[in-house]
Amino acid sequence: MSEPDGARGLSQRSALPPVGAEPVRRVRVQHLRAAKQNGEKLTMLTAYDLPTARIFDTAGVDMLLVGDSIGDNMLGHDGTIPVTLEEMLPAVRAVSRGAKRAMVVADLPFGSYEASPQQAMTSAARMLKEGGAHAVKFEGGLRVAEHVRLLTSSGVPVVGHLGFTPQSENILGGKRVQGRGDAAAHQLLTDAKSLEEAGAVAVALEMVPGDVAAHLTRDLTIPTIGIGAGAECDGQVLVWLDMAGMGGWSPRFAKAFGAVGAELDRATRSYLAEVRRGEFPGTEQTYWS
Ligand code: KIV
Repeated sequence: MSEPDGARGLSQRSALPPVGAEPVRRVRVQHLRAAKQNGEKLTMLTAYDLPTARIFDTAGVDMLLVGDSIGDNMLGHDGTIPVTLEEMLPAVRAVSRGAKRAMVVADLPFGSYEASPQQAMTSAARMLKEGGAHAVKFEGGLRVAEHVRLLTSSGVPVVGHLGFTPQSENILGGKRVQGRGDAAAHQLLTDAKSLEEAGAVAVALEMVPGDVAAHLTRDLTIPTIGIGAGAECDGQVLVWLDMAGMGGWSPRFAKAFGAVGAELDRATRSYLAEVRRGEFPGTEQTYWS
């Protein structure tokens, strides 16, 4: 019997809950570490709404990230810095309603956590209580280790985010690879270790040289989730519009696995043409008395 695309074979012993089984079992924090120990790659995609969350969840993605990349990908902002908690929450709610198996991770937007562990806790609590998320993600290493510790001890799983951290793009001097050179690589390792020690359940590595990410992946017991960080990470994450080929600018590290933007354009043009020619709606789409 052929497996649905993206699903793991049910016959293969997996550390993760099966895809397509009833009742559906949720991916939880213990599965992330077990997958790493098992050498099983973790999959993560961003999602910002219910229909895409449902499709990705049914296909078997392990984690759905309601990223602050909603800013540039969905809301028309230039980047992630303008995104607010109030903009994130409806998206987190919609994705949580659509995800039955995937762990839903909500990004804490810029300005909603940096000031103190207490501020991070207040924002994270809203993501879990009002959004239905299962975990939160925020950027930074050693400087946010105490934030991670408080959230973890309060029952909130945290995913860290190191390397190129878009909320700090003004201080980093733009979208640039991070961790090049011995000192920078060592700093990344110190940051990653401090997150692990504080209780983070995984760490996203963005735009990090592949060899540095491989080294970090070997040194950590928690999974690394790469985005522009090479193939040796324990898992991979992409912004779904880049993954599906929605068109528009994509970073060099992304790959389009489809041409959804072109298909949407084709469908839209055929709808417009049929309406204009008076062919839609036809008899099948019309109610009669
Ligand atoms: O917001 C986001 O999409 C992210 C990923 C790039 C990891 O943080």
